[in-house]
Amino acid sequence: MELSQNDLHSDPVEQFRRWFDEAKAAVPLLPECMILATATKDGEVSARAVLLKSFDEHGFVFFTNYDSRKSAQLHENPRAALTFWWPQLERQVRVEGAVVRTTEEESDEYFASRPRGSQIGAWASEQSKVIAGRGDLDARFEELSATYHDREIPRPPHWGGYRVIPIRFEFWQSRADRLHDRFQYLLRDANDWVIERLSP
Ligand SMILES: Cc1cc2nc3c(=O)[nH]c(=O)nc-3n(C[C@H](O)[C@H](O)[C@H](O)COP(=O)(O)O)c2cc1C
Repeated sequence: MELSQNDLHSDPVEQFRRWFDEAKAAVPLLPECMILATATKDGEVSARAVLLKSFDEHGFVFFTNYDSRKSAQLHENPRAALTFWWPQLERQVRVEGAVVRTTEEESDEYFASRPRGSQIGAWASEQSKVIAGRGDLDARFEELSATYHDREIPRPPHWGGYRVIPIRFEFWQSRADRLHDRFQYLLRDANDWVIERLSP
């Protein structure tokens, strides 16, 4: 497959939507999986997989534990990079930008839509903390399941979403002889994106 500048939508979010739709049709397992890179303010970097839950002109949203390591880094350095790799299409998309928390309402709404097991898991896990053993986690899960067995499970205050507000996108299409097609979109002004081809 090839990617030429004529194929690209002038709006990178719309371009992402096209490619994401194609990825959903072609990638059997978790096309919404993305690698999220964050850093401390001193530049110590870490990366992990998370799931994209929604995106639009306001940004790219994922949910997590606000007490986790990634959240500590986002608190002191609210910037992130996201990378998608869709092997069946040999496509990579990169998104970089500033990060803000989603509103409490958005977090509530998404939390309410999750299966009960995941809701209890969000209460049971102190994400990124050292634990003595698996038994502690399972016991906490059982305890919380009993507590909430006949009740709606509220969203834990330490759980919610982040929105990455892009200032740069890159769309990468594999080509023969490592001469891949790469296009970056850089935000010049509000909604004014400059598109440039990059050397592979
Ligand atoms: C496919 C996949 C999807 C994941 N999705 C999420 C997610 O949406 N949110 C999340 O907090 N962790 C998710 N995780 C777990 C993270 O990769 C990571 O282990 C966790 O968030 C703790 O990261 P941290 O210690 O850097 O904060 C996912 C892991 C995998 C492999």
